Amino acid sequence: MNVVITGANRGIGFGLTKKYLSAGHTVWATCRNPHGSRELWELEQDYGPKCQVLELDVCDNSNIAALKSKLKGITVDLLINNAGVFPEGSKDLVNLNADNLMKAFRVNTVGPALVCQALQENLEKGGLGKVINITSKMGSLADNTSGAYYAYRISKTALNMFNKSFALDYPKIMSVVVHPGWVQTDMGGSSAPTTVEESVDGIFKLSLAIEKSHSGRFFDYQSKEIPW
Ligand SMILES: NC(=O)c1ccc[n+]([C@@H]2O[C@H](COP(=O)([O-])OP(=O)(O)OC[C@H]3O[C@@H](n4cnc5c(N)ncnc54)[C@H](OP(=O)(O)O)[C@@H]3O)[C@@H](O)[C@H]2O)c1
Repeated sequence: MNVVITGANRGIGFGLTKKYLSAGHTVWATCRNPHGSRELWELEQDYGPKCQVLELDVCDNSNIAALKSKLKGITVDLLINNAGVFPEGSKDLVNLNADNLMKAFRVNTVGPALVCQALQENLEKGGLGKVINITSKMGSLADNTSGAYYAYRISKTALNMFNKSFALDYPKIMSVVVHPGWVQTDMGGSSAPTTVEESVDGIFKLSLAIEKSHSGRFFDYQSKEIPW
């Protein structure tokens, strides 16, 4: 499989990159600063042409255009829009401002939408293209019983809505939103109950099992459906 992953340099994205490479797939591991990641450089050494490290800030239109032109004519079997931010200070209404709201929206919603747009033809090319937009249970209206975390929640709910329209408009592409669990990363913190490996193993399994009937739906890393 040809796999494109955003935010591949650390956390869940790096775990996913290692997982797909070790299973024999070819990975375009994208990140903001390819030269700053020793870990990705080591994977490039180990896996040669199967590991292509590319610069991609999902907020940078010229980076997205460069990705599109670099992958022109190449089938993408799986796109994982993983890059994301949890803006500091946007937990309580009193600290909410246009900057932290717009930052969350730019990275967590606009970024994945424009990457899907850029790679739509690549995803349709093989006839079985899949997209996993990494969202969060915090974007579920039904699951929100504790409030707060405005910027992050809003941006992930909006990503869920993007995914729904994309899945309906492009029936040749199977596109789902996936909550990776509460995971031990820089974002999730050390008290999170789920390891990167557990999350990644679950997302990997789910990615292989996605069928047409799943498109437009919301799952967690254990393939359990999440209410909107
Ligand atoms: N950890 C959790 O408990 C949890 C729970 C629910 C959902 N999620 C979601 O899971 C995904 C991965 O999170 P994580 O826990 O692995 O977070 P993380 O450890 O903080 O890693 C975030 C990744 O996103 C990248 N990124 C941030 N802004 C970017 C941009 N503008 N362009 C490209 N890459 C960018 C970061 O790159 P840099 O190194 O360049 O900053 C990094 O690779 C996110 O979408 C997050 O919302 C995580």
